[in-house]
Amino acid sequence: MNLENRPIGFFDSGVGGISVLKEAIKVLPREDYIYFGDSKNAPYGTRSVEEVKTLTFNAVDYLIKKNAKALVIACNTATSAAITDLREKYSDHMPVIGIEPALKPAVEYNRRGKIIIMATPMTLAEAKFNNLMENYRDRAEITPLPCPGLVELIEEGIIEGEEVNRYLQKKVEPFKETGIAAIVLGCTHYPFIKKELSIVLENKVPIIDGSMGTAKQLKRQLLEYNIISKREEAGKVEISNSLNNNEIINLSYRLLNLNE
Ligand code: DGL
Repeated sequence: MNLENRPIGFFDSGVGGISVLKEAIKVLPREDYIYFGDSKNAPYGTRSVEEVKTLTFNAVDYLIKKNAKALVIACNTATSAAITDLREKYSDHMPVIGIEPALKPAVEYNRRGKIIIMATPMTLAEAKFNNLMENYRDRAEITPLPCPGLVELIEEGIIEGEEVNRYLQKKVEPFKETGIAAIVLGCTHYPFIKKELSIVLENKVPIIDGSMGTAKQLKRQLLEYNIISKREEAGKVEISNSLNNNEIINLSYRLLNLNE
């Protein structure tokens, strides 16, 4: 098959990367997409770096066998653990795009208060994030907020209602008094609970995620490698998951078609 007509491979530890896929479809509607979620091994955020690296390389092998022309690691955790090694191995042949917490737009809001970065424990512990945070240290007060347990709810399709509300309330309550400048969603699962988080924050705080930025970066890279689809018609999306059951595939499509 012509290189430019091959699908773009998307990967996440589960259904989270669908929040990035959604934005990619808006920016690049004529591409085909193959999405692989590793829900069987989720969450990644509380595993060891070595484990996440191995799981990520396995998933990438799968996408390459499926003929992917580009790779999007639509998972902050897998990006922090494996992106350097992945680029070393693959970027001579194809674009390898990762995602990291969108700190820059949050700082540029210039609002009073703390910038809170919600992410998995691993993302916040890794050097990649700490280097990023270092760049903005003198411009903003940045507070990492690990959210173990939140991915598990989203993997079950629980994205709003009492349980999520209670979880988020407990997380942000301690910061409400001193003021929150912005919240950065540093895990690709979290955009799905954005609506509930806005309720908890009474719509008063900007909530930022990096999915649109990642989609735009994907487009730039496809142009740079000269492999962007030139078809006229809309592309197709194929979703697969290591859990291999109907529930998880149905949830994946439900999240993909969710109206924000
Ligand atoms: N969606 C993932 C991320 O962006 C990770 C979730 C997990 O812990 O598996 O970090």
